[in-house]
Amino acid sequence: NVDPSLARLAGLVRDVPDYPEPGVLFRDITPVLADGEAFTVVSTELAALAGEADLVVGVEARGFLIGAAVALVAGTGIVPVRKAGKLPRVAASRTYDLEYGSATLEIPADTVPAGARVFLIDDVLATGGTAAAAAALLGDVGAQVTGFGTLVELTALGGRARLAGIPVHTLLRY
Ligand code: PRP
Repeated sequence: NVDPSLARLAGLVRDVPDYPEPGVLFRDITPVLADGEAFTVVSTELAALAGEADLVVGVEARGFLIGAAVALVAGTGIVPVRKAGKLPRVAASRTYDLEYGSATLEIPADTVPAGARVFLIDDVLATGGTAAAAAALLGDVGAQVTGFGTLVELTALGGRARLAGIPVHTLLRY
């Protein structure tokens, strides 16, 4: 990351060893979001990549924070993709595998019109399971995913490969 504003973002990411379990190095982005200048850089850089999207969709939970800021800069609305059981009206559900067990994501009814061009946002791309499930939900409601953006990508986990056909934009790569 040679861009000075991105270098500053990278300096704010906090490395937490052995979290959430021994041997894992957790990249904590909380200090990036807490810094006004850095949060502005994240929001404007990702909004610039959103192109002509009609709508931003953010994935629970940190994807809500970044997604809402990106939507505000891009001048679009924001729709949350949520973990199961949080939405009163659900258009579609997708269950995907985690390292241990599985998780389910849901998209709210009557918020994403068929044919909408959607820019999908999360905080981190790791294995890509979450992003692939969110993209599948958008396909279920007839939307077109024009891109996926995150603050952090953990490249060794190969998440990009799960998003074939979707342009993937990540600001910081580890
Ligand atoms: C984290 C992160 C992404 C996802 C990435 O969410 O915020 O959504 O994992 O991992 P993947 O690419 O391997 O799917 P988490 O499940 O910790 O939920 P939270 O944001 O609600 O804490």
